[in-house]
Amino acid sequence: MSDIAKLQIGENTYEFPLIQGTENETAIDIKTLRAVSNGVVTIDPGFKNTGSCQSAITFLDGEKGILRYRGYSIEELAEKADFLEVAYLLIFGDLPTKAQLDKFYNDILDNAIVDDDIKKIIDAFPKNAHPMGVLSSLTSSLTAFNPSSVNVDSEEDMYNAIVKIMGKFPVLVAWTMRKLNGLPLHYGSRKLGYVENVMKMMFEKPNEEYDINPIVKNALDKLLILHADHEQNCSTSTVRIVGSSHAGLFASISAGISALWGPLHGGANQAVLEMLEAIKKDGGDTKKYMGKAKDKEDPFRLMGFGHRVYKNFDPRAKIIKVAADEVLGDLGVQDPVLDIAKGLEQEALNDAYFVDRKLYPNVDFYSGIIYRAMGIPVEMFTVMFALGRLPGWIAQWKEMRLRKEPIGRPRQIYSGENYRPFVPLDKR
Ligand code: SDX
Repeated sequence: MSDIAKLQIGENTYEFPLIQGTENETAIDIKTLRAVSNGVVTIDPGFKNTGSCQSAITFLDGEKGILRYRGYSIEELAEKADFLEVAYLLIFGDLPTKAQLDKFYNDILDNAIVDDDIKKIIDAFPKNAHPMGVLSSLTSSLTAFNPSSVNVDSEEDMYNAIVKIMGKFPVLVAWTMRKLNGLPLHYGSRKLGYVENVMKMMFEKPNEEYDINPIVKNALDKLLILHADHEQNCSTSTVRIVGSSHAGLFASISAGISALWGPLHGGANQAVLEMLEAIKKDGGDTKKYMGKAKDKEDPFRLMGFGHRVYKNFDPRAKIIKVAADEVLGDLGVQDPVLDIAKGLEQEALNDAYFVDRKLYPNVDFYSGIIYRAMGIPVEMFTVMFALGRLPGWIAQWKEMRLRKEPIGRPRQIYSGENYRPFVPLDKR
């Protein structure tokens, strides 16, 4: 294939270089388009055909259902690694040695306390505040308590900001859930691992010794790994574009949390459970809901189905579906919505509407069933997604800043009124 693309506009033909990635993806580099063509730009709502950056962090192939973090397959990482190892891999580029991982975790533990005044912010929220709104606010408030901005040219400064948010974020996540459950806010222990501390801070009751359930710990580890990064999705693109104005890491992550909240994105895991519960309440009539999902007049969508990139199965959904059976079985939990979910999947896989549009279960379709079996409230499901995605957001923000990417500022095509003179009020 030639290494240039030719574009004809009117009488003129323009040439643009082609960029080839390490997995043979090809992009047209159009950074000179507007200058050479006297102002012509491209337009691509939702950026379905537009790359925002080159990145070395995550590779996914939507046609083949491939997902790799720094070259390692999601299947192997979910099976053989733990979440902190994967966080290190995404952020620093390689799997850590034992010494590197121990130092990383000790530095995180040294930063796992938040300013006690944050409790006053939590107290100010109404009890039924949605946890994603609480988490986004608390994360943004970290800037107030840790005002020094990150000097990205200093490796030490960048590292310190990373271990600070890796240490404090799980506390904010846990305290968000304890606020919802009306429990006192407390901390983990240096004797426990990263995910074990999340469990202790989330679930421990004030009047009992908390025992770590290994089934829940392993399932949570796997779920967090599966959510850790996913190249330029909506919330990660938000973190990158906010960070491109040189806003701080905490502020950029807070913006990413708000983007993730939407039901078309990370909020889908909560919407899936609410949908499955509605179907169960309605007698389990999955055919009725499949009909609603296909009816263009009906705003109802089959939540947890479809994906912008995966036009084949979402490899994470395959792993989570197997884990759902295992975890519920090991915990002795019978949840009828799991059977409803499996029924919906089977019907969709044999339905022309879904097959023609390549709509398959995505990461959000089965994850909530496991969270619920763990005793996590449905409003907290997307918060758990954010906890998993944190290392990916950090890695992407770090890559964007270290590469000194320009501030994100898309163009537009104006489609409003042409010039018109002002009309005084008494003449309108
Ligand atoms: C995540 O990008 C990422 O990587 C995200 C994520 C990550 O890890 O960061 O993977 C996490 O956000 C997963 C997606 C969670 N969202 C949902 O489950 C919500 C339900 N899904 C959809 O709303 C939708 O599939 C999206 C938002 C996920 C993708 O939307 P697209 O790519 O913009 O596709 P589209 O809306 O243009 O749909 C194409 C067609 C349309 O029909 P036609 O107009 O061609 O007739 O498919 C239909 C849509 O109506 N369609 C659905 C559907 N999803 C798409 N119809 C019914 N139910 C659905 N779920």
